[in-house]
Amino acid sequence: MSNNDLTVVILAAGKGTRLKSGLAKVLHRAGGRTLVEHVVRASAPLKARETVVVVGHQAEQVAAVVEPLEAITVLQHPQHGTGHAMLVAKRSLGRAKFAVVLPGDAPLVRTETLKELISAHRNGNAAATILSAVLADPSGYGRVIRKSETAVSGIVEESQLTDEQRDINEINSAIYCFTLEKLWPALARVKPNNKHRELYLTDAIAAMNAKGETVLAQVVGDSREVLGCNTRANLADVDRVFREWKRNALMDAGVTIQLPETVLIDPDVVVGEDTVIEPTVQLLGKTKIGARCTIRTGSVLTDAILGDEVTVEPHSLVVASRLENSVTVGPFARLRIGTHMKRGARVGNFVETKKAVIGEGAKVPHLTYLGDAKVGPKSNIGAGTITCNYDGFHKYPTNIGKGVFIGSDSVLVAPVRIGDGAYIAAGSTITENVPAQGLGIARGRQVNKPGWAAKKRRDLAAAEKPKSASSKRKSRRTSKRRR
Ligand code: UD1
Ligand code: CA
Repeated sequence: MSNNDLTVVILAAGKGTRLKSGLAKVLHRAGGRTLVEHVVRASAPLKARETVVVVGHQAEQVAAVVEPLEAITVLQHPQHGTGHAMLVAKRSLGRAKFAVVLPGDAPLVRTETLKELISAHRNGNAAATILSAVLADPSGYGRVIRKSETAVSGIVEESQLTDEQRDINEINSAIYCFTLEKLWPALARVKPNNKHRELYLTDAIAAMNAKGETVLAQVVGDSREVLGCNTRANLADVDRVFREWKRNALMDAGVTIQLPETVLIDPDVVVGEDTVIEPTVQLLGKTKIGARCTIRTGSVLTDAILGDEVTVEPHSLVVASRLENSVTVGPFARLRIGTHMKRGARVGNFVETKKAVIGEGAKVPHLTYLGDAKVGPKSNIGAGTITCNYDGFHKYPTNIGKGVFIGSDSVLVAPVRIGDGAYIAAGSTITENVPAQGLGIARGRQVNKPGWAAKKRRDLAAAEKPKSASSKRKSRRTSKRRR
């Protein structure tokens, strides 16, 4: 379909009073993106001459979202209604013959649906074609008033419905295709006859009909596509639909998702075949997961890159990190930005990493912090190992060679290097480099005092012998002094 006679206009200037928010409505998020971004993305494949976004409330922030997607913006200030928004956009529409107009707050619409709307409009030689939907509960939406099977006489806003019209369940999605030379004269005749004193684009429909122009309404196949986001409850409904569509697409591509309704996946996430995703997992941002991985319950992955056969055990957080094939993480692990685990490496429970490279087959099984650290292949980091990478001013690196064994409860004060094959004795505070194949030991020597405990118990027991109340108090005081 060639659409160089077509312009897309997205109305996104409104505040969204019903959301009760400091954030403009179209900047709210559902399905992992702002509302207006969804709308721009759905219309981009139409390859229209131009995508014009009408901005007003928080115009700069809205522009910052849509301009990178190759849309241009026009400012509507103040906002006098959807009809006024179209008039403001008029001079930016150039020589386009047709316009597809969409509200910035109905983000579920699919490109296919827009293509069908345009075809219906062209084939029907119409002045306007409305995308409508039949809803079980039409409240809150403008209703489509039909004068015959095919033709429409007008749209009546919720606030202006008569009792009879209230029962009409065909609603206006606020997505239309207009023939512009028919729209402008009709809009010129529209008056702000409503309690908000706004110019309603919907009133242009009746104005066209009055001049004998053809107005059609095309009923959308899946009525969820036209859900608008006027309230927080609407936002939650729309988010639920996006998440369901994304999970279904992944399941179609060979991913197992258990209790799918509990799993949250952002739109750009990629998951390979035969990967299993357990309940309550969140896969966010640009996360990319290979084949045959297992992501276990309660784990949250953000911008994580996973190879094949990776296991993320329950309740682990992985942010902006790379896990190569056959890596195991968790349970209860936190991999922060810049962690890179090489093939077969293992990080266990209560381990935190940040900017850490963990070599092939290396193990960090429990209770460890590795920051700004390199761990060579096949090294083993004992429980309770901490890299002291920060002195309050700067961060310093810790470099652990290959095949190193770090004993439990060691503190590695950076900058420091542990040579290949070295040992660190448990409980050491290492402040100097350790040579390859050497032993680093840095702790107080143990002293054993034979019989000390038995004598202590005897003394304590003697002090506790029952006496008169006053002498008891006294003896307690003496025993304290002795200690
Ligand atoms: C609108 C329709 C209604 C339809 C519903 C579908 C009108 C008068 N009514 O109602 O028939 O059933 O959508 O969701 O159009 N906007 C501007 N400038 C303005 C006013 C609004 O750009 O001056 C933008 C808003 O940011 C929003 C869109 O237009 O993205 C629709 O406005 P909104 O106030 O949400 O209209 P509804 O009351 O939902
Ligand atoms: Ca709306």
